Amino acid sequence: MKIETCAVHAGRHIDPATGAVTPPIHLSTTFERSADGEYPRGFSYSREDNPNRKDLEECLAALEGGSQALCFASGLAVVNAIVQGLEPGDHIVAPDDVYWGMRRVIGEVFGKWGLETSYVDMTNIDDFHAALKANTRLVWVETPSNPLMKITDLTAIAALARGAGPQIVTVCDGTFATPVLQRPLECGIDMVAHSTTKYLSGHSDVVGGALITRHDNYLFERARKAQRYGGGVPSPFDCWLTRRGIDTLALRVRAHSENAMRVAQFLCAHEAVEAVHYPGLPSHPGYAIATRQMSGYGGMLSFQVRGGREAAMAVAAGCELFLRATSLGGAHSLIEHRASIEGPNTRTPQNLLRCSIGLEHVEDLIGDLEGALKS
Ligand SMILES: Cc1ncc(COP(=O)(O)O)c(C=O)c1O
Repeated sequence: MKIETCAVHAGRHIDPATGAVTPPIHLSTTFERSADGEYPRGFSYSREDNPNRKDLEECLAALEGGSQALCFASGLAVVNAIVQGLEPGDHIVAPDDVYWGMRRVIGEVFGKWGLETSYVDMTNIDDFHAALKANTRLVWVETPSNPLMKITDLTAIAALARGAGPQIVTVCDGTFATPVLQRPLECGIDMVAHSTTKYLSGHSDVVGGALITRHDNYLFERARKAQRYGGGVPSPFDCWLTRRGIDTLALRVRAHSENAMRVAQFLCAHEAVEAVHYPGLPSHPGYAIATRQMSGYGGMLSFQVRGGREAAMAVAAGCELFLRATSLGGAHSLIEHRASIEGPNTRTPQNLLRCSIGLEHVEDLIGDLEGALKS
């Protein structure tokens, strides 16, 4: 089944009680037992499972081509659930420009857990290979990366990790690409993590996360326990909204990508712009891998403004259509000075602005940036 069809049909069931085509939202926290004490409909208590969450998990597993999925209350709840499954002394390999929230989870939430972490440039396969150790248990990949849009070769990472032993579980954060543009499990990666807050729900009105696995593995089973007993679960309404957003995922992601390509080309040609980071530009170092690995280049880009931090801030301030806000993947375009949100230890250049290119008409977006860059 093609992804457009899957996005509309997977995890959708006609309501047996009413025939409703759009699923009802099951707010009930508890479900009836039969006289013999069993749960014949499969649900007992909504932290453990809920019909809306089950439908969304079924849909996400199908979209990624995985065997099972787990939904969480946020993307970072997924990261917490996975890291919590590791043992003291275990080693993690993660990208040196990994989403900064992940660094905070590893360093601040699990600081006393005794984990060892190597942050490496995963676009350099030799560096990655050299970072693997006998105690490596988790390899985390993020591609395209946030906010520098670096591209990592998923097939190469999966093969090297597999070659280093069956104890290593590989996870790709697929938030920027979505399953429409990139299929990590088909590249041999074990699991895909998403902040469903972004493109999957797609309208900037839900915070959520998901973990999808290709096959049974102990970190997925431990994440399931973290979900059910730890309780970081999404509400039925959030699951329902996310499932509804997925109906239009393929159309939205392609429209975001087309707009982003045009904006990237415009920025490249602008004299006030020092560098543009967009994997769809032939000048991008990851262009060849992105072209092989992705079916489009996505709606995210970042660019560096000549003149440093103040000049970048002034461009963001001069935008009228682009909203100055964090997050990504919604209908409206967003612009953000990443270094100031990431704080004093950031590795992000001070003159960098990250853009989530929305679904407005691209000429209006280019006009807005043109005005802001002029001022
Ligand atoms: C690539 C990436 N992964 C994970 C997350 C965390 O997701 P959430 O904000 O839903 O917890 C984000 C949030 O911005 C992100 O950009």
